[in-house]
Amino acid sequence: MRRKIVAGNWKMLGSRTENAALLDALVGGLNADTVTCVVCPPFVYLHDVWRALRDSPIALGAQDVCAEAQGAYTGEVSAAMLKDVGCEYVLVGHSERRTLYGEDDQLVARKYAAALGRGLIPILCLGEQLAEREAGQSTQVVGRQLAAVVNLCGVQALAGGVLAYEPVWAIGTGRNASPEQAQAIHAFLREQVGQQDAKIGAGLRILYGGSVKAGNARELFDMPDVDGGLIGGASLKSDEFLAIVAAA
Ligand code: 13P
Repeated sequence: MRRKIVAGNWKMLGSRTENAALLDALVGGLNADTVTCVVCPPFVYLHDVWRALRDSPIALGAQDVCAEAQGAYTGEVSAAMLKDVGCEYVLVGHSERRTLYGEDDQLVARKYAAALGRGLIPILCLGEQLAEREAGQSTQVVGRQLAAVVNLCGVQALAGGVLAYEPVWAIGTGRNASPEQAQAIHAFLREQVGQQDAKIGAGLRILYGGSVKAGNARELFDMPDVDGGLIGGASLKSDEFLAIVAAA
């Protein structure tokens, strides 16, 4: 049985005041020792959030990481720094990074390697655009995104990470993938990994992200290959996020 994960991606939202209220409610309301719960605030709030969470079971994650280990990379944050401030997880290849900041599959794979190399758990985000889905290319796209990481890091590297299938057309749109659509892609991803290493494929956690809410979490998480969720908008509302964790 794979332990489910519910991770909140706060994106570039929140403030110290809003975060404090949200964390208070999450720490006070969380009642799930069978689910791994993670929050991913913006870099500047990591230390505040670490302090608020240090005596709680909620883990800390970041939203991005530099592919380089250290040096003259103004504006970037390294995997070692994230580890230093208490992060356990980091998102890599979020669709907003891929589409708005031009991150390609190779850069995302290097970020995955950098995170893993420093003892972070990378959450590798994968997903197709609407036009790609309509053209019947969903599995081709996520297969290519996954292969870039496997080619650079080896299939063993997936044992130390998590996948998150986030169809771009479902992110922030209120239009989630149906449980069957999510299941089909998750099963495909697991099979791709399983063909190379059956044990790693069977143990791999694959999260679904894209308009997950309290009202649809249960039916998504009930699918056999959906091992939890990566939550955007609803992770900023404590009652919604706690209900999603409870659904997991
Ligand atoms: P929403 O839950 O707001 O659709 O965002 C999903 C997401 O991008 C999480 O990384």
